[in-house]
Amino acid sequence: MYYPEEIVEEVRSRNDIVDVIAPYVKLTKRGSSYMGLCPFHGEKTPSFSVSRTRQTYHCFGCGKGGNVYTFLMEYENITFPEALRSLAERAGVRLPQEEESPEAKARSDKRTRLLAMYKEAATYYFYQLTKESGAPAYRYFRGRGLTDETIRKFGLGYSGKSGKELYPYLKEKGYSDELLRESGLVTFDEKRGVYDKFWNRAMFPIMDANGKVIGFGGRVLGDGLPKYLNSPETMIFDKSRTLYGLHVAKQSRKNYMILCEGYMDVIAMHQAGFTMAVASLGTALTERHASLLKRYVDQVVLCYDSDGAGVKAAMRAIPMLRDAGIRTRVLNLEPYKDPDEFIKALGQEAFEKRLEEAENSFYFEIRVLQRDFNLADPEEKTRFFRAVSRKLLIFSDDLERNNYIEALAAKYQIRAADLRRMVNSQGNDAEKVRREQRAAYTQEPVPVGEPVLVKRGPRASKEDGLTGAQKILLTTLAAQPSLIPKLEGKLGPEDFEDPLFCQVARRIYDEYESGGTVMPARIINTFTDKDEQSAAADVLSGDLPESSGHVERERAFNEALRRLMRRRIDNALAAETDFAKIRELAAQKKECENLWIELEMSDYGD
Ligand code: UTP
Ligand code: MN
Repeated sequence: MYYPEEIVEEVRSRNDIVDVIAPYVKLTKRGSSYMGLCPFHGEKTPSFSVSRTRQTYHCFGCGKGGNVYTFLMEYENITFPEALRSLAERAGVRLPQEEESPEAKARSDKRTRLLAMYKEAATYYFYQLTKESGAPAYRYFRGRGLTDETIRKFGLGYSGKSGKELYPYLKEKGYSDELLRESGLVTFDEKRGVYDKFWNRAMFPIMDANGKVIGFGGRVLGDGLPKYLNSPETMIFDKSRTLYGLHVAKQSRKNYMILCEGYMDVIAMHQAGFTMAVASLGTALTERHASLLKRYVDQVVLCYDSDGAGVKAAMRAIPMLRDAGIRTRVLNLEPYKDPDEFIKALGQEAFEKRLEEAENSFYFEIRVLQRDFNLADPEEKTRFFRAVSRKLLIFSDDLERNNYIEALAAKYQIRAADLRRMVNSQGNDAEKVRREQRAAYTQEPVPVGEPVLVKRGPRASKEDGLTGAQKILLTTLAAQPSLIPKLEGKLGPEDFEDPLFCQVARRIYDEYESGGTVMPARIINTFTDKDEQSAAADVLSGDLPESSGHVERERAFNEALRRLMRRRIDNALAAETDFAKIRELAAQKKECENLWIELEMSDYGD
């Protein structure tokens, strides 16, 4: 659905950013803006700033920024139309009716009906738990140490013994056989008739990132098989992109998530206070899971079962997470089998300690690799180091690779120089090796020549002076557009070098010329790409520290202005051959040195 620009702007202007963000982030007024702990990266001192004047937010730590739309999109992990609809509802703005194609409409209606049905089913199962007939399931959950609060939080339930309960219930609620068939919650069988898929099982509703029920896992009460029965994939349920517990974990405000194997692990961990735990649903981790995780965090602690299967799953997950740009550590649960058992036996503090001690995933990989070699045998030892040096090729950053070489050399007591030589002798085709190592877990051929991205953490790279100067200018001009006429003949939008800066500048000049006021949040709206929006917000937040006074601001502005002017003149000089023009430019340059433009006094206040 495409919404016209006026609607987008109308909705934005009716939702004050401070009010929108306040329920999510504790904000304290500091000077002209509001500060809080950044919800997009872990931090202990606030660097997340929200400005009512500009209607933007910006984190000085991780560089994230934008307007009300980008905030909701990032925080709730929703799309632009979803953010728009939610803000429209919040402000009581009526949106134009969607004009979808009949097929699209039918599809989205069906989705809505399915979601409603799953919610209904979850409510039904949950309610069964409170009944006499549900006592065995309730006892089962309590027997595994779950509190009533946890049971309620995860909406755990029970599917009755007869296997003929949910179907009539949902039917009664008005759901058609066709939709019920598609839901996978009931089975239509010629001989046996219609019966519920789940019966006499402890029920675990599976939620999507927004907390909507999209599937179920049902566990036998005891030792039967299969231990877990899962609802089938439907148009609302795709296992390869669902992480159990994510809707809670994404709110945990930690810069990492704990990835474990099962429902019970997640629940036990959450109950113990580790609400950043999630699990893939009995399936191996997929690249989609990895990129889903990457939307929220760039660190993951793997907490797989401490058996052979768990180690294997970890070995597969690590490179996949690495490729998604996630740093991984591996938690050791020994001597316990899984986190649920560990926490039951040793408690929350011991788990916390293991979390801190979790091993760098590369060392973990090397340690597992080492098991195949007898290091007492010189020949095997050599082969081991050859394998290690091959593995070291995954680090394309020289410094990072070197750090590992040195650490490993120290650990295995060999000379770093020897290991380095070995790494270098692996040939210069590091790219090929990276491809192989990727292919080893994706099990699909990796296209030749596909670049392996080495992604960086969220920290904004240190910017150079020119960038800073442009930002100060743009931020100041946006706040005090009346300065624009004073810049005539001195600096225009085209003098901003970066294309994005140039675009933002043009918008500021345009907005000013067409009405006098400039609203940064509106300018951010004109960018459609999320990264561009964030970058634009960053540009428009190129403010000096809150503590700096008028004099400092004015000096910074003028220095920045002169810097850009000089640059423009120098560029022009370099290209100019006409002597008269050269003289004129030289004069301009001289004049520029004495230029001083005064700023208005009260400009950043709310
Ligand atoms: P686990 O056997 O470790 O399950 O399988 P668990 O969650 O720890 O359960 P408890 O503690 O034995 O009750 C890990 C995950 O694999 C999937 C489920 O998602 C489970 O949580 N699984 C397991 C299945 O889908 N089907 C099965 O038969 C077994
Ligand atoms: Mn278990």
